[in-house]
Amino acid sequence: MANQPKRKGIVLAGGTGSRLFPLTIAVSKQLMPVYDKPMIYYPLSVLMLAEVREILLISTPADLPNFRKLLGDGSQFGIELSYAEQPSPEGLAQAFPIASDSGFLEKGDSSVLILGDNLFYGHNLVESLVRVSSLREGATVFGYHVTNPKDYGVLEFDEKNNVLSIEEKPELPKSNFAVPGLYFYDKKATDFARALRPSARGELEISDLNNCYLELQQMRVELLGRGTAWLDTGSYSSLLQAAQFVEVMEQRQGLKIACLEEIAFQRGWIDRTELKEQIVRLGKSGYSHYLRGLLH
Ligand code: DAU
Repeated sequence: MANQPKRKGIVLAGGTGSRLFPLTIAVSKQLMPVYDKPMIYYPLSVLMLAEVREILLISTPADLPNFRKLLGDGSQFGIELSYAEQPSPEGLAQAFPIASDSGFLEKGDSSVLILGDNLFYGHNLVESLVRVSSLREGATVFGYHVTNPKDYGVLEFDEKNNVLSIEEKPELPKSNFAVPGLYFYDKKATDFARALRPSARGELEISDLNNCYLELQQMRVELLGRGTAWLDTGSYSSLLQAAQFVEVMEQRQGLKIACLEEIAFQRGWIDRTELKEQIVRLGKSGYSHYLRGLLH
């Protein structure tokens, strides 16, 4: 275990954001606010909570400069952040050829892909992330009960609750369990992704990649329980609901969700001096005030 290679993280934060136009004409969707911080903080926090510290952020050539401005090299969060371009949105599975061609993913690396617009929060989530992340063979995805499965990749089960397939946005969903945008893979993901052909809608589908693992019987599917929130930000109202969820939780508890400096400080990835630098950088904001509280 001790010499196990680390798992590398990929955040996919490109796309056109057209479902949120005109909000996202000039600003990347994943930089839009979700209450008190940009959306991208939430998926980044999930990777950090899974103890993944080498992270590649993939976005459009137009949006990457803004991500760099916001996040830099990641050292203020105790992580190593690098960047790669996706010239056009040709599908989620394209993250792997991009990560490999950029030199980020090397042969033999296991990885975790998270979509830049997915928010997770809940009881036991951190334990489960750390456990799943430590597994090296095969892949793990999650299942989450939703009212609108048609909008997602959907799990199909047999009568013994074994997963038979994952269907992308089916007209007639075979269950109410959607697959959230968080995928753990072993070293085979890039080769599988390179062998995929575009779907009818012209994309390299993540569900097709997942089905490669399912066919080999190397896919674990874990259901996320009711105590977990998986929030979508794909429409005006789901974006607002996500912000309201974060506001309600943070105001009630006085603790922030997805505060990257806090996660890094608690894990000893940044020290007090580095935290103080961030407090100064963040000026008179409530966020900075919260970080100040961590010093005491
Ligand atoms: O949110 C979970 C769902 O995400 C899964 O259940 C589906 O199986 C998966 O296909 C995906 O569905 P979406 O309809 O949400 O995919 P969308 O095209 O909206 O892309 C998700 C995010 O990834 C979005 O923020 C834009 C970004 N993206 C998308 C594509 C196609 C990229 O960065 N590059 C791309 O090529």
